[in-house]
Amino acid sequence: MAQRITSLLGSVWEPISKSVTKPNSLFAFLGAAVALKFAYKTLKWGYINFLRRNDMSKYKKKDAWAIVTGSTEGIGKAFAEELGKLGFNLFLVSRSREKLQNQQSQLEAAHHVRCQFYACDATKLDDVPFTKISDRLAGLEVTVLVNNVGIVHDIPTPLTEITPDLIADMIHVNTLFPVKLTQAVVPHLKKNKASCIINVSSFTAIAPSPYYSVYAATKAFNITFSRCTALELKEFGIDVLAAVPAQVVSQLNKVEPSLMIPAASTFAKSALNKVGLRQSTAYWFHAMPELLMAVMPESTLEDVSLNFYKTIREHELANQEEPVQQSKEKTERKKSS
Ligand SMILES: NC(=O)c1ccc[n+]([C@@H]2O[C@H](COP(=O)([O-])OP(=O)(O)OC[C@H]3O[C@@H](n4cnc5c(N)ncnc54)[C@H](OP(=O)(O)O)[C@@H]3O)[C@@H](O)[C@H]2O)c1
Repeated sequence: MAQRITSLLGSVWEPISKSVTKPNSLFAFLGAAVALKFAYKTLKWGYINFLRRNDMSKYKKKDAWAIVTGSTEGIGKAFAEELGKLGFNLFLVSRSREKLQNQQSQLEAAHHVRCQFYACDATKLDDVPFTKISDRLAGLEVTVLVNNVGIVHDIPTPLTEITPDLIADMIHVNTLFPVKLTQAVVPHLKKNKASCIINVSSFTAIAPSPYYSVYAATKAFNITFSRCTALELKEFGIDVLAAVPAQVVSQLNKVEPSLMIPAASTFAKSALNKVGLRQSTAYWFHAMPELLMAVMPESTLEDVSLNFYKTIREHELANQEEPVQQSKEKTERKKSS
């Protein structure tokens, strides 16, 4: 048997080795290898984005709980809604107590699940009692953690214009808060056969993102944190996904949903479908620029990004100035009439 395999491999390798000794054939061979690699990547991309289905019931014990941070608006609200629909009890973590109370009653009524919440300000880490949160989780069968909460400035902003307070807040909310919460929650996840963590990163972390330097860096942190913990936690049956969305409709991004900018519910559903992978843009259309980036020259990509963000900044600044200008003109008109 071993002999047959060796002679078979030999018969395949012989013509290749002969041909690669001639320069033209060598280029043809290398070209074919690159084309094969690209075809493989494209097929894998197609499978992951269109065909792959994850069954969240794997994490759904009879009385399973899901924790969602930043749950009262945008993507976090959509995750809470989708997990509620799947029958998970919900432990909601967000800032406004009033919004959380309303969300609790709405989700309990809509999905007949149990809800608890914890109100805290993720910018004020010293005031957040992670041990106390962990104690509250002790009696619950927690199988899902969605580290979603994140903040960013409204418009593309040069590094020198981001205030020290905002820099500290972004680092606290986007990186330290999920790290400390994950530390508090993992011992509970380890009690189950299967559980999962979704860390919501951002496309700014994988594409050149001038004028989002600090935010993008915090989001790159989320990806690295996910990749490392995924390996550590694998033996405990804990899957860790870094979800890397481009724009999604949310409180921050109040636009009409479109093919490029999906509704938060569309994104959350797609992300739940991708659990089991290490990293994914989750929404299929956001995977297109990712594929494009793989073949585009780095310098072109950087030029395109720089122009893109500069144009957005100029546009947003002009929009901000417009009302001021209009009110000035109104005052002038009143004076002259
Ligand atoms: N939307 C996008 O286009 C987009 C794209 C890429 C990545 N992301 C990432 O997706 C995640 C969610 O973004 P989103 O657009 O859905 O945000 P969002 O609509 O602004 O909602 C943010 C949620 O987090 C809560 N929150 C904000 N600051 C908080 C704080 N200091 N302490 C505790 N909770 C706080 C908010 O509570 P309140 O109700 O009190 O405001 C709200 O529930 C973020 O990590 C973001 O970086 C978003």
